[in-house]
Amino acid sequence: MELEDINTVAVLGAGNMGHGIAEVAALAGYDVTMRDIKEEFVQNGYDQIEWSLGKLAEKDQISEDAADDALDRISPLVDVEEAVGDADVVIEAVPEKMDIKKEVYGEVEEHAPDRAIFATNTSSLSVTELSEVTDRPEQFCGMHFFNPPVRMQLVEVISGAHSSEETLEVVEELAESMDKTPVRVHKDEPGFIVNRILVPLMNEAAWLVHEGESTVAEVDSTTKFGMGLPMGTFELGDQVGNDVSYHVLEYMHEVLGDAYEPCPLLAEKVDEGHLGKKTGNGFYDYE
Ligand code: CAA
Repeated sequence: MELEDINTVAVLGAGNMGHGIAEVAALAGYDVTMRDIKEEFVQNGYDQIEWSLGKLAEKDQISEDAADDALDRISPLVDVEEAVGDADVVIEAVPEKMDIKKEVYGEVEEHAPDRAIFATNTSSLSVTELSEVTDRPEQFCGMHFFNPPVRMQLVEVISGAHSSEETLEVVEELAESMDKTPVRVHKDEPGFIVNRILVPLMNEAAWLVHEGESTVAEVDSTTKFGMGLPMGTFELGDQVGNDVSYHVLEYMHEVLGDAYEPCPLLAEKVDEGHLGKKTGNGFYDYE
């Protein structure tokens, strides 16, 4: 498949990442289907896209017409067959759990055309293992966006053991057509590049607070004002979702060993449902 053959992008999952990817794809001129398992999830994602496009237009980063056109290009759906039936590329952004993702691929490959490339937005899981549950492991790779996708420049394009060079190249071109900068990840290791560096940093920050050595505010001040990061580590955790970073850590711990043991403070946030901005509270309150 060539970039010119891509007209329709199906995005599976309308959460933080899914709706952001759908927005970016629609802004690039693709027809987009955005699918989630419940009407309310899809509606919530669609509302967030509308909010985000409104913000971009308000700040003259895009025109009002471009915002309206992008929204018009997005079809929010619950039915899988309708969502992927005519897709040239399927970008999967469902929860960061291997069994959930595998189940979704089982459903999707039944309805997706043979030509369709499958790209997973997984933050850390094995692209190779996911590709092997599909009928097209060579047409499968990672396409990892960052939160919020509409503002973040990078896309990691991850080569699984079976990904063909043609697939990787067209996905890199697709990322460029969305005004992103792709970076090839040659080794399919937990966390790839960014999360291999970033998530242990977030975990270490949590250990400092858990052990009573610092407060959340102190750590965030040092990461912003001493390390030059745009957000404090805990602010960032709330932005990406404490469940997401926790699941990435759990997987890194399982595969890479004890150095990645998740801090209990993160587990507590997940157990309490304090997942960050998306639930209205995390390390900070947003209500
Ligand atoms: N769409 C449109 N506008 C948005 C938005 C979105 N999705 N998200 C935030 N904004 C708006 C805010 O509402 C705010 O608007 P107002 O000024 O009207 O209040 C504005 O953008 C925020 O602007 P700021 O000036 O405060 O911040 P900024 O523009 O300088 O940068 C940022 C915002 C790009 C998010 C920056 O803080 C940043 O880069 N943060 C770090 C993000 C990051 O590291 N992401 C990667 C996380 S790791 C990951 O995602 C991988 C994984 O797998 C876990």
